Amino acid sequence: MTDVTEKWRSECVTAALYDAGVQHASIARAGARAMWGADLRRMFTDIARLADLPAGTAVLDIPCGGGLAFRGLRTGQAVRYVAADISPYMLQRARREAGRRSVHDAIQFVEADVTALQFADASFDLCVSYNGLHCLPDPRAALGELTRVLRPGGTLRGTSCVTGRGPRKDALIALSRRAGVFGNTPQAGEIEKWLTELGLDVVTLEPSGAVEFFEARSPFRKAD
Ligand SMILES: C[S@@+](CC[C@H](N)C(=O)[O-])C[C@H]1O[C@@H](n2cnc3c(N)ncnc32)[C@H](O)[C@@H]1O
Repeated sequence: MTDVTEKWRSECVTAALYDAGVQHASIARAGARAMWGADLRRMFTDIARLADLPAGTAVLDIPCGGGLAFRGLRTGQAVRYVAADISPYMLQRARREAGRRSVHDAIQFVEADVTALQFADASFDLCVSYNGLHCLPDPRAALGELTRVLRPGGTLRGTSCVTGRGPRKDALIALSRRAGVFGNTPQAGEIEKWLTELGLDVVTLEPSGAVEFFEARSPFRKAD
């Protein structure tokens, strides 16, 4: 079996093809509808909400890919935004995209593995993780790391493909695994279970075809 993490880290062709498609909302939505029976409107609405973040908000976007999520930022928005990915090539694309959108001043680009983050505990108010969990060998470990770096009261938001939403979609997921671009894709319902086990309050868990949209909040710690 191909090492999916190594493939994403070192290959450019898959990354370029994926990113070229997803950067056009109409192509991304049509593709998600055709492949996963999913309506991505919710994801794009969530991304647009980044424009409303208050000044000083610390955001971690991983995997940022070529810069899907930070399209929601406004030029000059005073947030601390870390865009991270395991692929240097994706980060290069993301840097270019940020420049095109004139949001590069707010963004720090970092090479990082979402299953072993180099950031301190409780260092972000918002973590976003779009279309990444299904590409990992251990998606639960990634949610564990995202939970660790989230401040009390902070929010984790994202999307992932899941198995168990129909034979055709499962076959496509199996094919993507064999091609080395998907990892151990979560089963339907597993993301909610993991978020709860990790101590987060699940705000939203919305399935759409073979995609799940999730939003969860880190509880404020009780006084000792
Ligand atoms: C399907 S793309 C999604 C990218 C972006 N969020 C989007 O929706 O366009 C999957 C991304 O996960 C990244 N990736 C794969 N394994 C990773 C890991 N262990 N840590 C961080 N990023 C990873 C890949 O390099 C790629 O950019």
